[in-house]
Amino acid sequence: MAVPSSAPPGPRGGRSSSNAADYAVDPLGFLTGAAREFGDVVSLTPTNVLLAHPDDIGRVLLDREGRVVKIGEAVRRGPMGFPSAMMNSEGADWERKRARLRPAFRSDRLDHLEHAARDGVTRLLDTWHDGLEIDVHDEMSRLAMGVGAVHIAGRPLGERGETLIRAVAAIMRLTSAPRLPMWLPTRTNRGLRRALRDFDAALAALITENPPGEDAHALGRLLADDPPFPEVRDELATLLMSGYETTANALTWLFHAVGADPEAGARMGEPEFASAAAKEAMRLYPPAWVISRETVGPLEVGGYTLAAGVTLGLSPWVVHRDGRWFPDPEEFRPERWLNGGRPGHRHAYFPFGAGPRGCLGASMALREVEVIAAHLCSRVRLEPVRPEEVRPRPALALQPVGVRAVVRFLG
Ligand code: HEM
Repeated sequence: MAVPSSAPPGPRGGRSSSNAADYAVDPLGFLTGAAREFGDVVSLTPTNVLLAHPDDIGRVLLDREGRVVKIGEAVRRGPMGFPSAMMNSEGADWERKRARLRPAFRSDRLDHLEHAARDGVTRLLDTWHDGLEIDVHDEMSRLAMGVGAVHIAGRPLGERGETLIRAVAAIMRLTSAPRLPMWLPTRTNRGLRRALRDFDAALAALITENPPGEDAHALGRLLADDPPFPEVRDELATLLMSGYETTANALTWLFHAVGADPEAGARMGEPEFASAAAKEAMRLYPPAWVISRETVGPLEVGGYTLAAGVTLGLSPWVVHRDGRWFPDPEEFRPERWLNGGRPGHRHAYFPFGAGPRGCLGASMALREVEVIAAHLCSRVRLEPVRPEEVRPRPALALQPVGVRAVVRFLG
């Protein structure tokens, strides 16, 4: 295995397996501490390097010279669900798949999304009553799954939506807990297997029921291309999953932040403010809290030359909370984004990644979060319940745990 030619500093010299253990216990604290103590290029292990300077982050994410890849050897060696999806592909294969999906996420489809989002909120409000205590993440998950499905597959999911949510929740639980081998008949493993089987069946039904000739949405575009079934299934699965889990997290974190700041809460009806608040919540709580790449040749970063085969960690959580780019970084302050406000460095804010592999659904997600937040806040106030117990769980996405609220209908 290749080793960095001039090793950057890091905890315990960046050479100890205790780093992996500390990371497993508290990934967010470990990464933040490592960057604050050792600087902008930190060795976590001989083949894992954290990059914390926006100059380096921009160079890596915007790379078009093939110095880094997303799906490298390290990723391929690990367990990878849905391997035929665009998100898990590389090179010409990835390019072809991305081009196939791109039209379904263009800005001319955002009006359609807005309609689905308003409709989803209206239905959700019908199930709430004044004084009801809710788990905000559960409610936002159901909402985002419904809205995402209408946008991606052309119709609401009904019962099947619950199946998909359960399967994703099981996958998330496993990705945030020490894993036991899949063949062990533990309760979690049995539950996961069952969830994955139901997930497959729900996807297969969605695919076979799609009316022919419908190709504005992503599922229609995929089917028009007539790829093999596993490819459609993997693509649809990853789109539905990435389309709802991250968005539900972003919405939940936004309500958590706004709940603690009554002044911000009162201004959520102003579209510009709601948009700034959404951006600010994604700064403090970036759903994609770490992004990785793998070097395929020597790479110069921050005065070091890294060899091929090194996994680079780029963490929006770490960089978004760095006082060099955001004054008072721990404070929720939507105002910093008003009137054209920008961070202290153009690559210091990257909740959607950047460059060729940046989020395909970024404009969809932003519009969805803004519309849902503004529409909900015009009808109800979500009164926080025990906000001091809320904490982030860094699974595949940054999950909010313990965000509960009492619904108060306005006027
Ligand atoms: C707040 C919500 C969202 C956040 C924070 C988010 C974040 C991200 C990030 C950081 C990446 C880049 C990962 C990397 O560079 O390795 C990404 C990729 C991607 N996202 Fe999102 N995302 C969100 C919503 C969505 C939605 C709604 C969709 C569409 C249904 C979506 C589809 C994708 C896809 C397909 C990719 C892979 C792109 C590629 O590999 O070329 N995301 N997302």
